[in-house]
Amino acid sequence: MSIVRVDEEGLKQQWKAVSELRDLFFNISATKGRPITYNLRTYGCQLNEADSEKLHGMFAKMGINPASEGSDADIVILNTCAVRENAEDRLFGNLGEFKTLKKKNRDMVIAVCGCMMKVPENVERIKKSFPYVDLVFDPQQIHNFPTLLLNTVTESHQNINITDTDYIADDKLIPIARQRRFRALVPIMYGCNNFCSFCIVPYTRGRERSRDFDSVVAELQSLADEGYKEVMLLGQNVNSYGKGNPDGKTFPDLLRAAASIKGFSRIRFMSSHPKDISDEVLEIMASEPNIEKHLHLPLQSGSDRLLKKMNRPYDTAKYMHIVDRFRELVPEGSISTDIIVGFPGETEEDFQGTMDIVRRARFDAAFTFQYSIRPGTKAAEMEDQIPHDVVTERFGRLLALQNDLVFESNKAKVGKTEEILIEGLSSTSDDILTGRTKTNHLVNFTVPEELRLPDVPLSSYEGLLCEVKLTKAKPYSVEGVLERFIND
Ligand code: SAM
Ligand code: SF4
Ligand code: F3S
Repeated sequence: MSIVRVDEEGLKQQWKAVSELRDLFFNISATKGRPITYNLRTYGCQLNEADSEKLHGMFAKMGINPASEGSDADIVILNTCAVRENAEDRLFGNLGEFKTLKKKNRDMVIAVCGCMMKVPENVERIKKSFPYVDLVFDPQQIHNFPTLLLNTVTESHQNINITDTDYIADDKLIPIARQRRFRALVPIMYGCNNFCSFCIVPYTRGRERSRDFDSVVAELQSLADEGYKEVMLLGQNVNSYGKGNPDGKTFPDLLRAAASIKGFSRIRFMSSHPKDISDEVLEIMASEPNIEKHLHLPLQSGSDRLLKKMNRPYDTAKYMHIVDRFRELVPEGSISTDIIVGFPGETEEDFQGTMDIVRRARFDAAFTFQYSIRPGTKAAEMEDQIPHDVVTERFGRLLALQNDLVFESNKAKVGKTEEILIEGLSSTSDDILTGRTKTNHLVNFTVPEELRLPDVPLSSYEGLLCEVKLTKAKPYSVEGVLERFIND
């Protein structure tokens, strides 16, 4: 497998395809007497969301818009995730549904991309059981999408396009239609070299490769110029950013450069692998006011024996050392984590180790997962898989403990006034706004009539910064009342 960087010259063919598609879609919509539309469904993590924002950007350049109803669309794309088994069941369920739609609209184009398409069995299943899927491509080829789509609409066979090459296209040259006004996603690296024994990502996303420092900084500067208040630097292991790049720049260099750009109120990043995070990063988090005071530090297990079997090269002592150091340097900060329950061979004692670290670290939030066998990974071959009922019982105990800690963390916020970045209307009421603190706590709050912006509906407050008095803790959020808007 090789890593290939794609520059301006390498993208020329794509922009030619975009212009051909624009003409083609214009003619088709004239014949049909209605605009051509697309529907893009995204599953999985923020890296997939970032890929989808590029697909949205390319569609915009082709002159076509999203469909108001997914089932009315002329082009449907499913951007899939393979990290756990249930994602696969969902995809094949959805594909069944499209058979009827395609019967109604024979010109409909159905495309599937994302991490699941790097698993050969899934591609074979599509070939065999879903002949009406028109295009299949992998995450390495997002930048190739225009030519892949052009070939698909001008040829009449199923177009399966999976590559062995790990491309890294210069993101600043690719059109990106950002889907949120309050947060811009900025991948700083792609792929993963860690091969944790449970995880499929290194197989789906290929080898680790970092974007050029100057390209990332240029993108950040233009985001600040556009008025974004929050950026999220993304990578499977951001602390190894820059390895292998000729400019010798590291993640701390990038964080400092981001912090020096005027305009950002919050610079977030994820994920941090405990094996690579340095004291320097924690110090930058403490000293730079616009770096978010929140560390996402996946633990996976609180058993040293299991961490070894997981191929996670740190132990619980090292993990707790990072937690303690962060709490010391950033006392007002928060920590979240990822934990897997039921990894092969997990004993009650191992599980108690996890419960113990959860109690000691006092996580402000945790993403907890039941272990899911991923064919092709080392852990899938391990003999001592844990029965489902044991996993669900342990999972319930972990969730109960973690829920208590989240509630405690929310209670500690009551009485404070904090800066909130508004994310939009709350899911429960059109009169309540939702947003997050610098520590990533979720806050739902009301806006007193006299503080409302004249002629601006609450639904358009997304992306604004304000101060909110935090009045009441709920199990998963904090309630509050807006006190004032923060102007630049
Ligand atoms: N690169 C990140 C890291 O190492 O922290 C993790 C990215 S992964 C997409 C997100 C989380 O999914 C992992 O931290 C892990 O907890 C979970 N995960 C990955 N493979 C899994 C599996 N086979 N079963 C259950 N959870 C899994
Ligand atoms: Fe998966 Fe481990 Fe890579 Fe994270 S670091 S993506 S868990 S292999
Ligand atoms: Fe992300 Fe899922 Fe791929 S979590 S990297 S979309 S397997």
